[in-house]
Amino acid sequence: MKQHTLLMPLDMHLHLRDGLMLENIGVLSAYSFSGALIMPNLVPPVRSKEELLAYKQRILNAVGMEAADEEEFDDIGEFSDNGGFEPYMTLFYQNYDKEFLTDVAEELTAIKLYPAGITTNSEGGVKNFDLEEMRPTLEAMAELEIPLCVHGETDGFVMDREAEFMNIYDALASNFPNLKIIMEHITTKEAVDMLDKHPNLYATITVHHLLISLDDVAGGMLKPHLFCKPIAKRPEDRDALLKIALDAHPKVMFGSDSAPHPKDKKESCGCAAGVFTAPIALQLLCVIFDKHGKLDNLQAFVSDNAQSIYGICPEFKEVTLIQEEFTVPESYKGVVPMYAGETIGWSIEDVD
Ligand code: DOR
Ligand code: ZN
Repeated sequence: MKQHTLLMPLDMHLHLRDGLMLENIGVLSAYSFSGALIMPNLVPPVRSKEELLAYKQRILNAVGMEAADEEEFDDIGEFSDNGGFEPYMTLFYQNYDKEFLTDVAEELTAIKLYPAGITTNSEGGVKNFDLEEMRPTLEAMAELEIPLCVHGETDGFVMDREAEFMNIYDALASNFPNLKIIMEHITTKEAVDMLDKHPNLYATITVHHLLISLDDVAGGMLKPHLFCKPIAKRPEDRDALLKIALDAHPKVMFGSDSAPHPKDKKESCGCAAGVFTAPIALQLLCVIFDKHGKLDNLQAFVSDNAQSIYGICPEFKEVTLIQEEFTVPESYKGVVPMYAGETIGWSIEDVD
């Protein structure tokens, strides 16, 4: 039976939520990933050092990692016994001053920018992209080597939102050439083309956007569990994403954008955006890369590229997958995953 081993898999875009949801789903990522970049769109968003450290602690508690001493709270080194899952923390973008950023830089991996109101809990995001207003923050970030992760959608027609945002990426990348900018969860060939236009632009790609197009979401019966932002686009967009993922383009990393919502918020009139893939992401990636004869490139896509882009050094974890059928559960503690009840061709055999 075919086997494939991945070392230190990383999920560079993950929503872990808070409270009971975090307690219920956090362990699913911690089981098979060495670390994940944790999105800050809580209510209220993570915007201060205290909130960031407290949230990191709640994540470590939820995934069963050793808690840090209260007194040692502002020393991230005290989290070192993390049992093999590192939450790489982010702050919610707003204009921050340099003093604040200097003080918090050690504790975070990136800052995540949301256009205001574009997706779940993003109301406090950026209203207009006035680069001169943003300059002090972005220059300080560049100086302190804090990458900027961006949800790149305008408020235009839903299928065009990402393509329309390319002007903003262009302006950001050329005005701040020393700032690392990560185009999050890209879904279009326009974004793929953009990657090589600026040396400081990078991207994450989800597993669902490698598999589905808008047809799968809304072409037949409406599939709420495939509804997310940015919405899946045309087959040719998916093919462009597939090409750079399968080639493990060095500026591209895996980021699941796994975004759990309670079942009643998905199967409702007014479906929340988000696809929940955390527990099946590595299995699906094996299915895709194996199908295209590119399993050898999966290690770079799911870990090595992220390590070099972010300069991170995750703790050792070895995940062995086998080509054996796995039936996706109908729900994980009330959260319905992508492909619930369906059978996929690869499963996790062992994690060391
Ligand atoms: O579909 C999405 N869900 N896209 C996002 O950008 C946010 C996420 C969420 O937090 O639910
Ligand atoms: Zn997200």
